[in-house]
Amino acid sequence: MRMRFKPYAHDELMAADFHVHEPLIWGGKWHAQYARPEQPFVLELGCGKGGFLSQLACAHPENNYLGIDITDKVLILAKRKIEAAYTEAGRPIDNVKIMSTDIERIKGVLTAEDTVSRIYINFCNPWSKNASSNKHRLTYPRQLIQYREFLKDGGEIYFKTDDDDLFRDSLEYFPASGYEITWKTFDLHENEPEWNIRTEHEGMFTEMGIKIKALIAKKLPGDAAVTWIEPKVLKKMKAAEEAAAAAKEE
Ligand SMILES: C[S@@+](CC[C@H](N)C(=O)[O-])C[C@H]1O[C@@H](n2cnc3c(N)ncnc32)[C@H](O)[C@@H]1O
Repeated sequence: MRMRFKPYAHDELMAADFHVHEPLIWGGKWHAQYARPEQPFVLELGCGKGGFLSQLACAHPENNYLGIDITDKVLILAKRKIEAAYTEAGRPIDNVKIMSTDIERIKGVLTAEDTVSRIYINFCNPWSKNASSNKHRLTYPRQLIQYREFLKDGGEIYFKTDDDDLFRDSLEYFPASGYEITWKTFDLHENEPEWNIRTEHEGMFTEMGIKIKALIAKKLPGDAAVTWIEPKVLKKMKAAEEAAAAAKEE
């Protein structure tokens, strides 16, 4: 369904103190933004309408959460779901925040000092129709390598998708970007783990009869764990090797 622009979203979000109004100024200081700064810091990238984040954060006051999406049009719905969940639970909204940021430009918004314990990526856009647009996937190596800056060693990424191509490619992206895949399934609901919380898109795809694929990947320490080479660079390297071999033959 296409979301229409909601002109009131901006004002309503600005009035919510758990909405981060200025995402660019908190790099290195994220923990201190929460009532209990010592708690593990957990991200949801592309949180959309917030069904997942609101339930997860409300059920786990022992963690601090930050939900990020590129557009206020869905964040406004996330804001309302968070308010509803915490009101129902009779709890103050003191361990969750939301903000609008382009995750492709997350460098500096979160830094190594922000030590993130876990990242959730649920049903990110697959970008699979055109191979050259794959680099916009939130699990593309350029992205996964960026997340290494602030995800602690041994920290985990939980990834779910309906898309077969994206999942198949991600099974290669993660190891090449310095992560070990410790668990995976091609049918999450066949034997649904007790920790799973179904997202809005998960519900929609499941109703359509599409199987949900999921994996958990652990960040390996050290730059040497990263073996990914951008296809563009690889092509140049190959051309240089071929030119050198041809020069030798002459
Ligand atoms: C297909 S929806 C999934 C939403 C939700 N996670 C779910 O499972 O229902 C993908 C979400 O990612 C957001 N998104 C896509 N690219 C993004 C980017 N570069 N930065 C931040 N959010 C992004 C979109 O706005 C959208 O809300």
